[in-house]
Amino acid sequence: MNKKKLAALKAAEHIKNNMVLGLGTGSTAYYLIERVEELVRSGYDLKCVATSKQTEEHARVLGIPVFELDEVESIDLTIDGVDEIDPSFNAIKGGGGALLREKIVAGISEKVIWIMDESKLVPALGKFPLPVEIISFGHRHLLRKMESLGLNPALRLSEGKPYLTDNRNYIVDLHLGENFDIPKIKALLDDLSGVVETGLFLNTCDMIAVGYDGGAKIIINNKK
Ligand code: 5RP
Repeated sequence: MNKKKLAALKAAEHIKNNMVLGLGTGSTAYYLIERVEELVRSGYDLKCVATSKQTEEHARVLGIPVFELDEVESIDLTIDGVDEIDPSFNAIKGGGGALLREKIVAGISEKVIWIMDESKLVPALGKFPLPVEIISFGHRHLLRKMESLGLNPALRLSEGKPYLTDNRNYIVDLHLGENFDIPKIKALLDDLSGVVETGLFLNTCDMIAVGYDGGAKIIINNKK
């Protein structure tokens, strides 16, 4: 079995009957959604909230009950993917462009589990470009500002046009390099008008499920 699937199945062991469940986005979350379908078919009464339209569609096709975020009071558990995670459980997310909804959903979740293959475990963040969701209005000016701050921005494109998020915003990928100064970059981005949200998820998850050759293991975040 592939490592992403092993991680997803391991995390899915934490799903209990009657939960409100946040469903992540991406190729690892794909296996989670397939597992949730099995649980629903076996009689689990779950209310699910999706972190992207892609996930919502996948879940609906499989007959999983999907609710709008504002239709639920709270979320018991969210299981989502991740692009890079360091030993302090700081992470980069948003490779799939869903970072804003993923951060909102994680923020109101009682418990957050991230699922991944072992390649996502890194000593320091930054090889993976940091996705930042920005509004389209005046985006060229914002890109120039980011350039002048040394953030090495690249507007994400899809078929030659700016990639559009589910919220009809753009994504800029910042090529910061390994081991960038997290508080400094966060402060710079927090200060820029036009930035909607960043893919920096600092100490957000309660545990991670990591898939290796032949198995998966849970690592608890004791600092949260
Ligand atoms: C989407 C995300 C994904 O969770 C992240 O990109 C990991 O994806 P994958 O499981 O396909 O590697 O943040 O915005």
